[in-house]
Amino acid sequence: MIVLGIETSCDDTAAAVVSGEGRILSDQVLTQLDEHKPFGGVVPEVAARSHLQHIDRLVDQAMQTAGVKFQDLSAVAATGGPGLIGGVMVGVMTAKAIAAVHKLPFLAINHLEGHALTARLTNGVDFPYLLLLVSGGHCQLLAVEGVGRYRRLGTTIDDALGEAFDKTAKMLGLGYPGGPAVEAWAAKGDGSRFALPRPLKGRAGCHFSFSGLKTAVRQTIDALPPGALEDQDIADLCASFQAAAADVLADRTGHALDTFQNAYPDGKTLVIAGGVAANRFLCDRLQGLAADRGIDWVAPPLNLCTDNAAMIAWAGCERLRLGLSDGLDFAPRPRWPLDPEALPAAFAGVKA
Ligand code: KG4
Ligand code: ZN
Repeated sequence: MIVLGIETSCDDTAAAVVSGEGRILSDQVLTQLDEHKPFGGVVPEVAARSHLQHIDRLVDQAMQTAGVKFQDLSAVAATGGPGLIGGVMVGVMTAKAIAAVHKLPFLAINHLEGHALTARLTNGVDFPYLLLLVSGGHCQLLAVEGVGRYRRLGTTIDDALGEAFDKTAKMLGLGYPGGPAVEAWAAKGDGSRFALPRPLKGRAGCHFSFSGLKTAVRQTIDALPPGALEDQDIADLCASFQAAAADVLADRTGHALDTFQNAYPDGKTLVIAGGVAANRFLCDRLQGLAADRGIDWVAPPLNLCTDNAAMIAWAGCERLRLGLSDGLDFAPRPRWPLDPEALPAAFAGVKA
């Protein structure tokens, strides 16, 4: 089995070829970071145009690097959502065209399922496992029961954690994307200097909230002498922010592990995915949590934690193996929850 995967749901144009045994034959990613930098965030129209400009070349490169021809493929998979709809349309149309011309099955992959199944590609993790998906757009805790079978235990009621990192960086003038910059500054700072809030920590359940933390960062900056933000202030604020984020992640993931270990006694792995998984400080904390609970910890390599097409091709392999595929009438989906039964998270754990 050989599947071509295409990913265009945010600000990376990506194409990859993966085999059914989990060999990554090619993995091409073109980041649009420089195109969005002047705006301090991803601009959907700019992203869609850029995907359109580059996707054919990326697919060619992926096929050539893998050393395969379209006739060798078993299927073509593309992210079908959720994401910025203009970009998703570009990837879906490209995949459908290849599938139609070469008479191949087409698979519309949920981007979140791509992240969720990556640990099986990289580490062969068995179902069920608990997944913490933390990126610029998502912050969710999911029990992964099987392909297409997810139970959402928690999600954010406002911002994603990556977004909070990005906004903190923006307020401190550290540029975009903020996560790596905040982590680097935090390493030189004192995380106990500013007493920032730990939203929802200690509350029942496993939902997240980060907007109050973001506001507290703003207020802390405003309370410092105007125009005189010293390097040490920046470092201490980054470290304090990161310490608060780590406390919240550990608390919420701990609650999710209670539920998970109860509901799935044979589940023995905690997996992290998404761009925020690049953060060593946060990963160390979660790894410690897994060790305390006596369960395995899996963090796929960074290039497979951030957006990529190998995860889409792999999710395609997993679905194709189960006899699943999609019609060419599939319509791209800006919203596409992994667990449609999950209750809305608004006001989670907070008494009205
Ligand atoms: O998964 P990803 O590449 O894109 C999506 O959002 O889907 O994640 C990007 C996010 C950004 O918000 C970025 O600031 C954050 O991941 N990030 C980090 C780090 N590296 C990237 N956050 C914290 N620490 C990092 N080292
Ligand atoms: Zn993603």
